[in-house]
Amino acid sequence: MTIAFNQLAPRMEVIQPFHVMSLLGRAKELEQQGRDIIHLEVGEPDFATPPAILEAAMQALRLGDTQYTPSLGLMSLRQAVADFYQQHFSVNISASQVVITPGASGALLLITGALIGRGDAVMLADPGYPCNQNFVRFVDGEVQAIAVDESSQYQLTAEIIAKNWQENTKAVLIASPANPTGTIVAEDEMLKIIDLLREKQAYLIVDEIYQGLVYDNEPYCALKPGDITNIGVQSNDKSHVIIVNSFSKYFQMTGWRIGWCIVPEHLLDSCERLSQNLFLATPTLSQKAALAAFLPETLEILEQRRELFKQRRDYLYPKLLDLGFKIPVKPQGAFYMYCDCSTLTDNSMTFAHDLLEQTGLAITPGIDFGQNKPQSYVRLTYTKDISVLEQAVQRLEQFLT
Ligand SMILES: Cc1ncc(COP(=O)(O)O)c(C=O)c1O
Repeated sequence: MTIAFNQLAPRMEVIQPFHVMSLLGRAKELEQQGRDIIHLEVGEPDFATPPAILEAAMQALRLGDTQYTPSLGLMSLRQAVADFYQQHFSVNISASQVVITPGASGALLLITGALIGRGDAVMLADPGYPCNQNFVRFVDGEVQAIAVDESSQYQLTAEIIAKNWQENTKAVLIASPANPTGTIVAEDEMLKIIDLLREKQAYLIVDEIYQGLVYDNEPYCALKPGDITNIGVQSNDKSHVIIVNSFSKYFQMTGWRIGWCIVPEHLLDSCERLSQNLFLATPTLSQKAALAAFLPETLEILEQRRELFKQRRDYLYPKLLDLGFKIPVKPQGAFYMYCDCSTLTDNSMTFAHDLLEQTGLAITPGIDFGQNKPQSYVRLTYTKDISVLEQAVQRLEQFLT
């Protein structure tokens, strides 16, 4: 018997590849030919994982600490995460609500797996982090991608959510700060959204993976108790709010594949059963390492690096405007600039490819972030030293003239 290769699951027809990967492939080819390539396309910090985290991992290896952990994670790490929320965001959660996962990606898989079934819709913003749509599709849910623009800081608002509500909307997914725009949902708007979804009896999933990387305001957690008198919200009940976070970005541990989610008690059993079956557990070495992520010496380094990211943003933002890109909302967090290039090109994909070929500068075309005018946008990351960003700006200048 021969199995026909067209017998893949129907979901494979709707799960898109990352288009930037073909660009990255070409960039690597050019590098092998000896070209000097500046990579502003990949969404990960350029800094190495801080030393105390590395040392904690090496110590675990020396001790032979390599067996599975409990599926929801080491209790000491779950407690450390809960303590971090208490100390930094005044959020009171119990360690049992913290689920350690293989990255925010693992958390998103658990949550969509636990909540979304065939016919359930998840509302999210377009542009947005592309994998989110694919998680929903992977569990046969319906993606409700809402086109957003500068008028709402490229984010969903309570008003937009209410206007687009469908009977089958089961959850709303928000990333703040967002990828690719770096914009934040203001705290009072977040409270309105929480209030609306309580009323609708739907879940709010808040992806706070870039939480620590904010440059103008203090970071906050959507679970933070709100001022209910101030903006007229009706209750502080947040048992429909799920937080996703990760050690990848602020803690600079992308390759360690470790993150977490904070779930209401009633979802714990489902998350545990899914985690047991899908992952068994998050890598032990990464969990041992992450225990050192909250040490004062680590946080001090991370805060210094946050300041460097801020300086890079403040360097790159006006330069891109001078070059003719439009960035209607100055990014407040993460390390991305989502630039409207419509006065420079009518096809951002060709623009990105030509830029790479002619100047060796790699950036991401808008097509990777959704269907909302992708041809008019490109994303640049500022995960490089200012001296490299200066060269990138020179290459752009040269390309555009
Ligand atoms: C908004 C957002 N969420 C989730 C992820 C997944 O992160 P990880 O699985 O590395 O924690 C990313 C990665 O770029 C992201 O940008």
